[in-house]
Order: sequence, then structure tokens, then C-alpha cells
Amino acid sequence: MSGFNFREEAQEHLLAAAQSENGLDGGVKIEVRNLMKVTDKDVRILNKVNVDIPRGMIMGVIGPSGSGKSTFLRALNRLWEPASGSVFLDGIDICDLDVLSLRRKVGMLFQLPVLFEGTVADNIRYGPQLRGKNLSDDEVYKLLAEADLDSSFCNKSGGELSIGQAQRVALARTLANDPEVLLLDEPTSALDPISTQNIEDALVRLKKDGDMSIVIVSHSIKQIQRIADVVCLVVDGEIVEILEARHLSEAKHPLAKTFLELS
Ligand SMILES: Nc1ncnc2c1ncn2[C@@H]1O[C@H](COP(=O)(O)OP(=O)(O)OP(=O)(O)O)[C@@H](O)[C@H]1O
Ligand SMILES: [Mg+2]
Repeated sequence: MSGFNFREEAQEHLLAAAQSENGLDGGVKIEVRNLMKVTDKDVRILNKVNVDIPRGMIMGVIGPSGSGKSTFLRALNRLWEPASGSVFLDGIDICDLDVLSLRRKVGMLFQLPVLFEGTVADNIRYGPQLRGKNLSDDEVYKLLAEADLDSSFCNKSGGELSIGQAQRVALARTLANDPEVLLLDEPTSALDPISTQNIEDALVRLKKDGDMSIVIVSHSIKQIQRIADVVCLVVDGEIVEILEARHLSEAKHPLAKTFLELS
């Protein structure tokens, strides 16, 4: 218990520091409190995860394979159902929200993109259409540009795209819903270095201009150091350390240290 209190105080301090450095007035977008996931066989996949995800910042999540990073991310928009009282968006328990409107506010991108039938433009128009809004061609082009694609992609079907291109369409489709939070699970692992850089630039722009809160799981420590403000280190289903990205090398947890040294 004392470990948790220490972490919470330390996190409060560093979030305040990172937010003032970014010219932000602070505030928490998502609160996670004692989040647990236990399998049918009583294995703890997540064990009392506590973290405040700051508004308008990029939080990186790193840790060994199988440590629970994707499971953690998927709780935040109820791709699995967390216990009520464990995840709050703007202070409201996400279990009390309509799940579809939650997923519009909290968009997610997976490691491997899945596009719907139809063209790229159909994919991008889909979300707004559900809300009775028809995007103009220019709006579609703008979303494509934000995801580092030009307008020539509009009429292509999903099957004609590389994985990297499909990933960027998936990003544009998510952005079409005007999300407040973006959850990204290794979003650039299938992209070449130039596209990776363009997506990273887009994420930093979304944070700065759109006040978006972003949580990104990545196996690339360099990527996290390039774009994240704060970083969570996940080991065996627990957040063992939360640090400012520029102080990542100062991690103290033994497993976190080994992980960073080997990365
Ligand atoms: N539905 C499930 N039932 C049982 N075990 C699961 C389930 N989903 C995930 N796990 C287990 O939970 C642990 C955490 O998985 P998770 O996918 O969250 O890890 P990760 O940190 O994202 O790993 P990677 O870096 O390889 O993507 C793993 O041991 C995995 O086998
Ligand atoms: Mg994963």
C-alpha cells in the first residue's frame, strides 16, 4: 500500500511539472483506480492499476511482451468491461456511459488495422454518418492529410492498401469521430520510418492544437522519448513506475531498468 501512495504522490508531482512545461493548466482526463483483470483460472493480468491520464498530453506505455499493456488500453473504452468504479472519464464512471458514445470520445487504433467494406472514403465517412453528418470531399481530404495520406486514396478499397496505408486510413477514420482521447496500440509497428515520423508529427499536432489526450503503447523506447510527455512502465500487470519521458533512463524498478537496458 505504501508503494502505491508513493507512486501516486510522485505522479501528481511529475504531471504538474510536465503540464506546466507544456503550458497546460493541468487536469486529469482519465482516472484509473485499482483496475483489476483476473482470468477464469485466477491469473491476475492487471493488478490494481492506478494512474491519472493527463488532459492534453501524450502518455507512453511501455513494458515487456505479455505484461498487460494492451489489456490496460482496452479497458479504457470498454473493449472489455472493467469493474464499475475503476475507470473515470472527466470524472464520470465509463461503465455509466453509453458504450458507443464512449468509443467515439475515446478512439482506438490497433496494431493491425481492420477496414470496413467499401472505399477509403466510405470508411472515413462511416462514423460521422452514424450521427447524421455527411462529410464533404474536402473534409475527407483533410482527415486523410492529417493521417499522412493524399486524396488519391479516397476511391481505393481496403484490399488495395498495404498494412501501413491501411493503418493511416484507420487513423483518419478514428479522427473523423472527433475523439477527445486516442488510444494507440503499437500504431506504427507496420510503418516505414518516414510514415512513422509523419504519424508522430500528426499526434504531437493533435495534442497541441486539438487538446487531445493520447495514450500510446509502443515497443520503441526512442519513439516514446520523441513524442511522449510522461511514460508508464508496466511489468506483470502493474504500473511499476511513472516518469517524465525525458527522465526515462532514471527508472528505478529493477525489472524496468533491465527492460530499458535491453531495449
Ligand atoms: N482473454 C484473455 N484470457 C486469458 N489471458 C489473456 C487474455 N487476454 C490476454 N491474456 C494474457 O494477459 C497477459 C497480458 O496480455 P496483453 O496482450 O495485455 O500483453 P501486452 O503487454 O500487450 O503484450 P505485447 O507487448 O506482446 O502486445 C498475457 O499473459 C496474455 O496471455
Ligand atoms: Mg499488446
